[in-house]
Amino acid sequence: MAEDEGRLMEVVQVKVSIAFFSFTLSFLSFSLLLFVLRSKHAWCNCHVCKSYLNSSWTADFANLVDWYAHLLRHSPTQTIHIHVLNNIVTANPDNVEYMLKTNFNNFPKGKAFSSILGDLLGDGIFNADGELWNFQRKMASLELGSSSVRSNASRIVSNEVRTRLLPLLDSVSASRGTIDLQDIFRRFSFDTICKISFGLDPACLDLSLPMSEFAAAFDLATSLSARRATATSPLVWKAKRLLDWGSERELRRAIGLVDVLAGEVIRQRRRLGFSSRDDLLSRFMASVSDDKYLRDIVISFLLAGRDTVASGLTVFFFLLSNHPEVVSKMREEIDRVCTSSSIPSYEKLRSMSYVDAALYECLRLYPPVQFDSKFCVDDDVLPDGTFAKKGTRVTYHPYAMGRMDTIWGSDCASFRPERWLRGHDGTFVMLKSPFEFPVFQGGTRVCLGKEMSLMEMKTVAVSVVRQFDVEMVGSAQLPKFAPGLTATHGGGLSAWVRRRI
Ligand code: HEM
Repeated sequence: MAEDEGRLMEVVQVKVSIAFFSFTLSFLSFSLLLFVLRSKHAWCNCHVCKSYLNSSWTADFANLVDWYAHLLRHSPTQTIHIHVLNNIVTANPDNVEYMLKTNFNNFPKGKAFSSILGDLLGDGIFNADGELWNFQRKMASLELGSSSVRSNASRIVSNEVRTRLLPLLDSVSASRGTIDLQDIFRRFSFDTICKISFGLDPACLDLSLPMSEFAAAFDLATSLSARRATATSPLVWKAKRLLDWGSERELRRAIGLVDVLAGEVIRQRRRLGFSSRDDLLSRFMASVSDDKYLRDIVISFLLAGRDTVASGLTVFFFLLSNHPEVVSKMREEIDRVCTSSSIPSYEKLRSMSYVDAALYECLRLYPPVQFDSKFCVDDDVLPDGTFAKKGTRVTYHPYAMGRMDTIWGSDCASFRPERWLRGHDGTFVMLKSPFEFPVFQGGTRVCLGKEMSLMEMKTVAVSVVRQFDVEMVGSAQLPKFAPGLTATHGGGLSAWVRRRI
């Protein structure tokens, strides 16, 4: 017995020593890697790179995007080069048109981007280039353009607003409590994009139910994937993935759960039947039979359509609470157009010019996708004369572009919906080309969900503004963003909600 115990202790000791040794070795290799990376980057001594590396920009700017916007406004070409990141960043509309349209083939997403999101998105449209992208693009634009898919989406959004969002706000109003608007809009947009994409309801906005496992796993997987992009070099997260260490281990587990739950969704859809349905998964199932490919396609749609809409809505209500005069003008228009208390139809929403102007003005100043990168395949020269060496990351920056006086004039920093209106009746006009206002990207890969997302945001904005007063808790004038793929308010957006009619 004592002998057995002694042997057991020996085995345990050996195992502990091996674990300790592996941990020390991993830790040392990782530290060495960081050291090598840091010294490799130390070669660039320009003030922008120094400021980036020692984070001294944080003394003057709340967000990295604000610092970039400042640098771009002061650059004679409206383009800067962050050498340590091998990243050219531009707010020059000619450059944007060149990379997104004229010489599109030389600026794909590239391997660097697709490997960051590859584990989560696989071969989905958001992450694909070449033939894989082409096939999904054709199919997706056909489906998203079809009137049955559109009216199905419109019905789903109205239903979610009427049966869940408004009753939820009502209960907050009755309890005289506060609510995290960002969280509510993320739940709302997850429900709607799942219903539109799969025809199934995760009921995230029903607060009496536990948070959907799918939404939680998807959230974790997207935020951990986005964290990869903040590493100074991809070698850092790749080494962690190899060692199955820290955030990479968490990411592997979260993606594993997303895979299982997405697989269940696909099986359920097949079991319930798909031939006469108007959700995107059912439409794709008619031409794709491989479950892994179907999983990749729908996960890309979740990513594209969820956080973007939630981000747009969150910042819209943040701006409105600082601009009561805009709320009053929206209410005047809503009262003029809507005669009954029901959720306004698509046609009614389309006729609201002032609401359109307020929403576009919000997207100009706070685009949900703040910047977007491509990779240069061959050496190239951008229209402003900037040389882009093969392999360089080239980023266009909608956030900075919304704040350029060269594009919007000297009042570019003001939130002024009237800039989008013309004539005595204040008709909304699209002021700029997609390369001056690339909030939905532009050119060959322009966003396929633009109309759908505008319809969704307008439905929510009109319904909530009409029935509730919304006021932020605290008096922040500028948002502080958390790192991520889409603009997210760090710490959420706490608000008071009061019923008015
Ligand atoms: C305010 C809301 C939205 C904004 C600001 C937005 C913006 C964008 C941007 C900037 C891109 C280019 C991303 C890149 O290439 O890396 C994009 C692509 C895309 N968006 Fe949106 N989007 C929104 C909502 C939606 C919605 C609701 C859907 C779907 C239902 C959607 C579907 C797509 C798809 C499929 C692509 C990929 C297009 C391609 O690569 O060919 N988007 N969007």
